[in-house]
Amino acid sequence: MSSPLVSVKTLFSDAVSTTKALGARLAVLLPPGATVGLVGELGAGKTQFVKGIATGLGILETEVVSPSFGLINIYPGERELCHADLYRLETLDDIATIGLEDTPNGDGLCVVEWADRLGAGHDFFDIIVYFRWIDRSKRALRIDARAALKACLQNL
Ligand SMILES: Nc1ncnc2c1ncn2[C@@H]1O[C@H](COP(=O)(O)OP(=O)(O)O)[C@@H](O)[C@H]1O
Ligand SMILES: [Mg+2]
Repeated sequence: MSSPLVSVKTLFSDAVSTTKALGARLAVLLPPGATVGLVGELGAGKTQFVKGIATGLGILETEVVSPSFGLINIYPGERELCHADLYRLETLDDIATIGLEDTPNGDGLCVVEWADRLGAGHDFFDIIVYFRWIDRSKRALRIDARAALKACLQNL
């Protein structure tokens, strides 16, 4: 898929459990092999959302921890979850080193925190979720996706 991303919808969460539930629903709706970028400040809820995605894939959410030093965690499962965190990415060359572009395997999903660190104009993601901190317990999640995915994400 290489069509540009279009705006799909904005969802609101007022609890960690809601953010996780949204992640789980997204995991079920996305086609095998999809790549998901997460953008938002520290504490915006990206990692909580990844825990929800894991649950949606049948992976224990307790397995999900932020990869240390900008690396990738692979959580095996019927559909594996590849989880990268680019917070500490120093140069774009490191992307090749960690093999991000070769993920996910098979029917899995690839989810990348700090997706904006890949720079403008990259074509890696099928969907990008922009997290906005509203208050201590509220977050807005704006979803952009390939036009081809828009219909299947309407039920999110
Ligand atoms: N609605 C919400 N959704 C997600 N996290 C929330 C929400 N409300 C409060 N939080 C808190 O915000 C923090 C989000 O942390 P985390 O998911 O690690 O953020 P990030 O990965 O974006 O840095 C957690 O401490 C969580 O308990
Ligand atoms: Mg995080």
